[in-house]
Amino acid sequence: MPAVVIVGAQWGDEGKGKATDLLGERVDFVVKPNGGNNAGHTVVVHGEKFELKLLPAGILSPRVTPVIGNGVVVNLEALFEEIATLESRGVDTSRLRISANAHVVAPYHQTLDKVTERFLGKRAIGTTGRGIGPAYMDKIGRLGIRVQDLLDASILRQKVEGALRQKNELLVKLYNRRSVDVDEITDGLLAYADRLRPMIVDTTELLNSALDRDEVVLMEGGQATYLDVDHGTYPFVTSSNPTAGGACTGTGIGPTRIDRVIGIVKAYTTRVGAGPFPTELEDKWGEYLQRVGHEVGVNTGRPRRCGWYDALMIRHAVRINGFTDIVLTKLDVLTGIEEVPICTAYDVDGVLHHDMPMTQTDFHHAKPVFETLPGWTEDLSLARSFEELPENAQNYVRRLEELAGCRISAIGVGPDREDTIVVHELLPAATR
Ligand code: GDP
Ligand code: IMO
Ligand code: MG
Repeated sequence: MPAVVIVGAQWGDEGKGKATDLLGERVDFVVKPNGGNNAGHTVVVHGEKFELKLLPAGILSPRVTPVIGNGVVVNLEALFEEIATLESRGVDTSRLRISANAHVVAPYHQTLDKVTERFLGKRAIGTTGRGIGPAYMDKIGRLGIRVQDLLDASILRQKVEGALRQKNELLVKLYNRRSVDVDEITDGLLAYADRLRPMIVDTTELLNSALDRDEVVLMEGGQATYLDVDHGTYPFVTSSNPTAGGACTGTGIGPTRIDRVIGIVKAYTTRVGAGPFPTELEDKWGEYLQRVGHEVGVNTGRPRRCGWYDALMIRHAVRINGFTDIVLTKLDVLTGIEEVPICTAYDVDGVLHHDMPMTQTDFHHAKPVFETLPGWTEDLSLARSFEELPENAQNYVRRLEELAGCRISAIGVGPDREDTIVVHELLPAATR
């Protein structure tokens, strides 16, 4: 009964979508446990580029049943737009299943996301503006609308009314905005009900019975470890738990059913939005990584901030997620750099730290201490085995492995599905 989890180890955009796609032909279900249409995954299949936001990347694999788990927040307009785009490109989306317990991102959540960011001014998080935070606030605050509420118009109306009683006070009195009409919201959501109905199922039952039949379930986390509301660089985080534990909560799959937890790690570091970033480069190298790595956000089109590899962050991510394997991505982007720096310690106001500091203030003050390894100039894109990598690239990977305390089982050498070196089999032995 193998369940496998994919988790981003940094601040997102590590290449989780590509990793899912790589395994897609050998798994039966791919479930998204958290987040919503704040994610953005680019997957390149035989030269053809696909961009996924709300849907799990597994939807591109013909034999996979893609599932939106209970931990996801679903914007229905975005959902049907994404379905239409994929269908127009020949991707069959008819197998998609959505948890009855998943929450809905309503238009007022998006409005609130934007006004609260404006209200924060200098302290803004730099959210994607998709209403993710306010939707999770309503979920935790027990004012949320769930997918199943769309099956009962009168319940839906009551819930929208309950949510808006408070929201309208906020919008009008605090944020100086127009109030939102209960009927308009309810009717707007109900307009999707007929199309949604056949997709709504008890996904915990669906996934657990698949595991009972020894089928493979891949849990494809959105966002990443340092965007986790508990373990990330709070408050500059998203409002869900993208770490491995969150995958259990967000799908209803128990921890004892998980065989592998695969951490996706970029060979350098990027971040979109505000917040501390010790190895950030504000010089020509930052621009270099941004340009060569095509580091522009899929979701919002914002350039990603870039920096060198941070070994402290990865070691900590290995611990809190219990990674069994790492997929190292974008090694090819480092080709041509004469000396490749790796951050192995932080200098925090004169004190050397070899592990993640306990407090956010220390993390803000952290100055990276680097060791450098000799670089390589050879094109990596055709390498298909570890031995085919230039010696210096091999040494870089071995050093990262040593610093992480976790084996590196696959290495990305280009964006296409094929551009991958598999060092250790990523799926448990019992699976196809
Ligand atoms: P995700 O959100 O974690 O799925 O990652 P994104 O799709 O947002 O960002 C990763 C980007 O890197 C995408 O444009 C991928 O096509 C690309 N990518 C993934 N792996 C590799 C790799 O090994 N090499 C190169 N050059 N690009 C890669
Ligand atoms: P994938 O799945 C990178 C960031 C936003 C912002 C913070 C909060 O593609 O790796 P939110 O809209 O979630 O309330 O924004 O989180 N963020 C991401 N950054 N990749 C993502 O997803 C992200 N999802 C959210 O930029 O800093
Ligand atoms: Mg992304």
